[in-house]
Amino acid sequence: MSGLRFPEGFRWGAATASYQIEGAAAEDGRTPSIWDTYARTPGRVFHGHSGDVACDHYHRYREDVALMKQLGLGTYRFSVAWPRIKPDGSGPVNSRGLDFYDRLVDELLDKGIDPMVTLYHWDLPQVLEDRGGWTNRDTAHYLADLATATIARLGDRVRTWTTLNEPWCSAFLGYGSGDHAPGRQDPAAALSAVHHLLLGHGLSVQALRAGGAREVSLTLNLACVRPDDPDDPHDLAAVRHIDGLHNRIFLDPTLRGGYPQDMRALFARFGVDRQILAGDEDVIASPIDLLGVNFYQPSRVRAGVGVDCGPANPGSEGCEYVQQDLPVTAMGWPVDATALYELLMRLATDYPGTPMMITENGAAYHDVLDGDRVADTDRIGFLDGHLRAVHAALSEGADMRGYLAWSLLDNYEWAYGYDKRFGIVHVDYDTQRRTPKDSARWFAGVIGRNGLV
Ligand code: FCB
Repeated sequence: MSGLRFPEGFRWGAATASYQIEGAAAEDGRTPSIWDTYARTPGRVFHGHSGDVACDHYHRYREDVALMKQLGLGTYRFSVAWPRIKPDGSGPVNSRGLDFYDRLVDELLDKGIDPMVTLYHWDLPQVLEDRGGWTNRDTAHYLADLATATIARLGDRVRTWTTLNEPWCSAFLGYGSGDHAPGRQDPAAALSAVHHLLLGHGLSVQALRAGGAREVSLTLNLACVRPDDPDDPHDLAAVRHIDGLHNRIFLDPTLRGGYPQDMRALFARFGVDRQILAGDEDVIASPIDLLGVNFYQPSRVRAGVGVDCGPANPGSEGCEYVQQDLPVTAMGWPVDATALYELLMRLATDYPGTPMMITENGAAYHDVLDGDRVADTDRIGFLDGHLRAVHAALSEGADMRGYLAWSLLDNYEWAYGYDKRFGIVHVDYDTQRRTPKDSARWFAGVIGRNGLV
């Protein structure tokens, strides 16, 4: 057989997140999350869209699981909504909230699909934000309590657990630039959130192990940061800082035992080093079994005078992002799959010994539903290119265990509301009708042959 084949046992699937698809925002005891509040704050989200109904997955999960089965997905990555399971953030468990995930897990297993549960994909209970959110150390402990409650109910059937999804976004977009909930704009708060998210990760790894978890992971959105001029030492210094903020500040403490020196200095510069207590780094370094890599776009930076990389990048004075001459998606994100290859090879070299999985990769395009069809050739090209990059990294020794497309369904794309469509399945938000796009059929073919033609 010709074409590229992936190793036997390579895991194929798709990912979603609770707030982006579930809807049923006020049902069965769920309380508001920071995203409910943010969506209701004028001017924050495109057209004031909220996740109140979203894809109505809470009521339509059976139909959605049937669709997954039809596409041949072997793995489904979803997140649990903290405000369903613990409506007051830190107190008693709401069993009706857990009932939903119990039914979902049973439905998945019944269809032969492996559930992969993320504990935190950004929907912090608003009551916890009212007490400081991720700038409050207690929140880290409450996340571990959520882990304990969730694995107690689902641990007999769920093999793979993920603590956090993209803490970079939670911290730097949530508390730095304010582009995500809770919408704060304070560099010290963002760095404090980084530490408490990581502490929450470490405590949750321990709670999940105590609950019998067989496979524990962390999902990061890692960046391939390139210099504008690879021979300019100032550009290389700019790369180093942005790489620190996107990659090393998360990777080093979780996989190498502690924060890198330059990021320690950054914590100190913003007065956040005091919040890093003795023993915290040991907790954060609790071993994981799998690193989830989310990848969407490459970045390029250079040094400059009187510039910075914006409020999502504390301490970035003297660095700026450079426009790249590449095709872009509907998000305006540049497309370059070689950056994924480079990133995976770098991870394999600098952080050896941790198996990796692509836990999100995909693209928004201006899809057109024509009868029963969405001819999304751009998305097929995107996925094909990035899968080739994963395969190339695999062939050169990167320990890649699987690939999950973002996303199964068109859904609530955070501050962009329903305006941006990342699904391989189209959703008509008026009728909730699901229509597999051409990319879904194409992906089903890839899964079926375990490879690319
Ligand atoms: C990632 C998020 C995911 C989705 C994609 C497009 O940063 O994890 O929820 O919004 O981007």
